[in-house]
Amino acid sequence: MKADILLGLQWGDEGKGKIVDVLAPDYDIVARFQGGPNAGHTLEFDGRKHVLRSIPSGVFAKGSVTNVIGNGVVLDPVLFRKEAAELEADGVDLKAILKISKKAHLIMPTHRLLDAAGEAAMGSAKIGTTGKGIGPTYADKISRHGLRVGDILDANFDGIYTAAKESHLRTLRNLGANVDMAAFGSAEEEWLDALDYLRTFDLADTEHYVNKSLDEDHSILCEGAQGTMLDIDFGSYPFVTSSNTVAAGACTGLGLAPRRIGRVYGIFKAYCTRVGSGPFPTELFDATGEEICSIGHEFGAVTGRKRRCGWLDLVALRYAVMINGATHLIMMKSDVLDSFESIKVCNAYRLPDGTITRDFPFCVGRNAAGEADVEPIYETFPGWLTVMSSARKKKHLPQAFLDYVAYIEEQVGVPVAIISVGPDREQTIMLNE
Ligand code: GDP
Ligand code: IMO
Ligand code: MG
Repeated sequence: MKADILLGLQWGDEGKGKIVDVLAPDYDIVARFQGGPNAGHTLEFDGRKHVLRSIPSGVFAKGSVTNVIGNGVVLDPVLFRKEAAELEADGVDLKAILKISKKAHLIMPTHRLLDAAGEAAMGSAKIGTTGKGIGPTYADKISRHGLRVGDILDANFDGIYTAAKESHLRTLRNLGANVDMAAFGSAEEEWLDALDYLRTFDLADTEHYVNKSLDEDHSILCEGAQGTMLDIDFGSYPFVTSSNTVAAGACTGLGLAPRRIGRVYGIFKAYCTRVGSGPFPTELFDATGEEICSIGHEFGAVTGRKRRCGWLDLVALRYAVMINGATHLIMMKSDVLDSFESIKVCNAYRLPDGTITRDFPFCVGRNAAGEADVEPIYETFPGWLTVMSSARKKKHLPQAFLDYVAYIEEQVGVPVAIISVGPDREQTIMLNE
């Protein structure tokens, strides 16, 4: 058996949580491979909405789906406890269905302070992080100072923790950050308390578990967080997150060899959004952008920030499909464009020297404001002017919409397998059925 991957092709918030929840009943295991509580994955069913941050989106699936938090994830015990307690209150027997890698890294209270201090020091050049301590935690991992989930089982954990904390506090002092030690003291107490809760979970060598499961013909869906354009290597650096959000990240973030990978589901919205700073070539600053934002309810699931909105960018999408080797595309939030008389799609960029390119270039805007220094070149399509939210089969979809989909497939070279026409589980159309 091979492991399939589902990941974002844009700047995050494509609707990964919804589709993982839809596909999960077809799998034995759902495994998150990177990111942390910077993610907010929204699921809607039975008239209720759930937002998952660190816990995989397979937890609500009927049947026996095991969920795994992989070694590539960074975990904040306090936020994990809050998220887990909400699920348990909803009747999910989380302890029975969740395994957490001992090799996942721990977000410490000082990591959040470092995140805030780093952003403050950058002033207007800030990245606009989610403030969850993601960057500093991954920085510690790479510089070999990190604390891992398995460390909390070590008798000497207090000593390891204190050394790391002291080092962070020294860095904060050097940055001139004003740390409120009383507030920090209570955050630390809450964190240490949350570790006791974390210890009651199945802390496991999940790389063995996922590989043995594949050997025994069990199926796995690997769930990504963020999106390809936020990848630390291939995104619009430095306005990115601190992990590999691309397909290769599923290998390193779970301990799966490349030959173990099967399908790669690449998910994108019918338009584009971005939260935080950084270049966004097709961003709209006009009434159309406002309309997409308001119809699509484009406000961040984690920070509540307004998402920047713009037309679909096929230059970036083609790039993302290439980097990930996407085998199947999933198009989300198609219904949001129902009322637009015409719809634009960017198919090429004009570079500052006047050259036209269809290939995503190095450094699309590395000016201090992180603005795009390319000009998008658009194709315009007639809108379908049909309400699609109640469509359940391909035959219910208007021809003008199917023409838009066919154009994307032709330009990107990969078929669209699933269309989403609303936030609910049921508002999902499998094109090949
Ligand atoms: P994720 O981080 O990729 O899981 O995506 P988010 O949950 O952050 O953002 C996607 C938002 O769009 C959520 O509020 C979803 O409920 C909503 N959503 C998902 N699919 C659709 C869709 O097809 N149409 C509409 N209108 N909303 C959708
Ligand atoms: P999901 O999984 C959208 C963005 C932040 C910021 C940059 C770095 O819900 O799609 P970080 O806190 O990671 O250091 O912030 O990345 N970002 C996201 N944007 N969706 C997400 O996750 C994101 N996670 C991080 O806004 O620009
Ligand atoms: Mg999200």
